[in-house]
Amino acid sequence: MKPTVYITRKIPDEIVNKIAEECTVRMWGEQDIAVPKSVLEQEIEEADGLFCLLTETIDKTMIEKAKKLKIISNMAVGYNNIDVNAAKAKNILVTNTPDVLTETTADLTFSLLMATARRVVEASAYLRKGKWKTWSPMQLTGQDIYGATIGIIGMGRIGEALARRAKGFNMNIIYFNRNRKQKLEEEIEMQYQDLNSLLRNSDFICIMTPYSSETRGLISEKELSLMKKSAILINTARGGIVDEDALYYALRKGELWAAGLDVFMNEPISVDHPLLTLPNVVATPHIGSASIQTRLKMADLAAENLLLALKGRIPKYVI
Ligand code: DGY
Repeated sequence: MKPTVYITRKIPDEIVNKIAEECTVRMWGEQDIAVPKSVLEQEIEEADGLFCLLTETIDKTMIEKAKKLKIISNMAVGYNNIDVNAAKAKNILVTNTPDVLTETTADLTFSLLMATARRVVEASAYLRKGKWKTWSPMQLTGQDIYGATIGIIGMGRIGEALARRAKGFNMNIIYFNRNRKQKLEEEIEMQYQDLNSLLRNSDFICIMTPYSSETRGLISEKELSLMKKSAILINTARGGIVDEDALYYALRKGELWAAGLDVFMNEPISVDHPLLTLPNVVATPHIGSASIQTRLKMADLAAENLLLALKGRIPKYVI
């Protein structure tokens, strides 16, 4: 008998078909609405494999409902939505989709950096609202990127890809990471600094670290107060790493110049969230990996992880 797989969102047909060749597929048919918890709780009970997204919280209670689950395949590199220890206790493999999204996510991070530095979104709104009366010397002036100092918090795959982009802009690169990357330091000519020094010295601070108990609230009031008034904070990692209230007050009081945010504590962020009232915030809806090519690769890799595990083999990306 074919194993049963539950897919928690409508994914491209070619990926569903690939899974359906070897499995009985059940799928939440909506594209832009997450599967309700009650539905997922029922489906997980009988599933042999779960293909899920970062929008699903797969906690201990959910995992305990599973009677024969062998694999939770997350279509994301981050896996903070899954209680990995609870899965491990039941011998359920958890997999993710790194590598394929590295360059795309670094691209978005650099786009946010450029958009905030040069006030692209604000300037576009200014023009559309008919505020542009004449060219003026200091109108909508931003911050220089070329030759500025970038501080990268988290030097994993995406941090490294970001550093390579920064190199192309002749930026002075500093980074903070759990462990030093000496070979890379020499190759890219970047410098390791402790977190506080990085915060003090950077013109751009980019958060590229995974979300965990170690990084929750890593950037709070104290850390924000160390940054230059002209500094720009970019977060394309996870919302919970930054204290959003503290960030709002720092931006409003002019203690920080701008922020580019692709991720939020609660997603989707409410449209009346205070951060969204600020002109110096560029906000995007968690689109770090959102290129057609990359999302297809992520879905394909998640399917491959799932199918290998269901055949009793060890997928490449096991957490
Ligand atoms: C991830 O994969 O964790 C990103 O946040 C979404 O692509």
